[in-house]
Amino acid sequence: MSKSVWIQNAAQLITLKNDHKGPRTKEAMSELSIIEGGSVWIEDGVIQLVGTMQELIPLCTPRASEAYIVDATGKIVTPGLIDPHTHIVHGGSREFEFEMRIQGKGYMEILNAGGGILATTQKTRELSEEHIYNTTALRLDSFLAHGVTTLESKSGYGLNLETELKQLRIMQRLNEKHPVEIVSTFMGAHAIPEEYKDDADAYVDIVVNDMIPHIAKEKLAKFCDVFCEKDVFTTEQAERILEAGKAHGLIPKIHADEMEASDGAQLAAKVGAISAEHLLKTSDEGIEALADAGVIACLLPAAALCLQEQPARARDMIAAGVPVAISTECNPGSSPTTSMPLVMNLACMTMRMSPAETLCAATYNAACAIGMADKIGSIEVGKQADIVVWDVPNYQKLHYIFGVNHVHEVWKKGVKVVG
Ligand code: NIG
Repeated sequence: MSKSVWIQNAAQLITLKNDHKGPRTKEAMSELSIIEGGSVWIEDGVIQLVGTMQELIPLCTPRASEAYIVDATGKIVTPGLIDPHTHIVHGGSREFEFEMRIQGKGYMEILNAGGGILATTQKTRELSEEHIYNTTALRLDSFLAHGVTTLESKSGYGLNLETELKQLRIMQRLNEKHPVEIVSTFMGAHAIPEEYKDDADAYVDIVVNDMIPHIAKEKLAKFCDVFCEKDVFTTEQAERILEAGKAHGLIPKIHADEMEASDGAQLAAKVGAISAEHLLKTSDEGIEALADAGVIACLLPAAALCLQEQPARARDMIAAGVPVAISTECNPGSSPTTSMPLVMNLACMTMRMSPAETLCAATYNAACAIGMADKIGSIEVGKQADIVVWDVPNYQKLHYIFGVNHVHEVWKKGVKVVG
């Protein structure tokens, strides 16, 4: 049992308290439910009381001597940030591609030259589980230091059963050991492995008939994701994989319309995906399909920047009623960052999302994108006490001063893990 915690007198306690179920859309993305002079009482890792300091003083003072006191005067307090799309478990790094990209080489050019995902696949196959476990743990430390308390993590650098399992087991072990909570996604269809480059359908057969049943049986993943893109997996292949995942209890997600409009957004709607990711080239019809089906658009502005592509049309999506989440998409190629605050700034500066929408996209809507909004994503009575205290007096400043880590303290399930 952890000690009680009393967070006192926050300049802004940003609760994102929600009166309706499901992800937020349109104006609701800007409703942060801020309490000035806010206070939170936590017991056994669960939020028990939320209100103004005045409201909590009579209720908490009799028990104050047994509590750990957090003075949040002059600071803001938010839910722990949630990163709903990462590829953190991988071997090696690809800084040489950074230089190639600056010289103007494109993503598919690098991939087709044996770089990109396939280069990381080779390293992930070669390196030991212990080595990759340790390097991933360091990445998680950095996420936590930047205010992330939960993240989604994809396999997809194994592209064979053995190494996909290795990645997913590393996630499972880290989830048990590291303060950052991990939700796993099977993404065996992240690229066509070298061995099957002339017969992608044969690889899809393996994903569908061998990998998915095995991974579902071992309960190693909650979601199934596919890179649906020209020269990678077609919409037909992607649909087959996502339907096979569904039949085994894996919730569909999809990498869609990243390099070209390939009807990936429409497929996300058709298969009932919880989220569609990237969406840099999504058409008007695609946006409409996402809105109609309530699919969460998981936007990745750091990847767009690294790839030197136009960012996703966040404003059009929000106007159309698509719920938007944002993510680092941490991976060794197109987005080697562990900083959600940087991504929040990029969401504002490159996609013209407001600071309020951005905060919702990095907390509550991100929780919805990983199916965890009943537990995390807002500061409400009964929810897990995943909370960040930031050393800024208002939430706009968190987004405005970028490239600086404003984290003061991070609390995971009522335990101080940073600060
Ligand atoms: O989103 N699109 C697929 N996956 C990643 C690339 C990962 C990599 O380059 O290693 C992406 O860009």
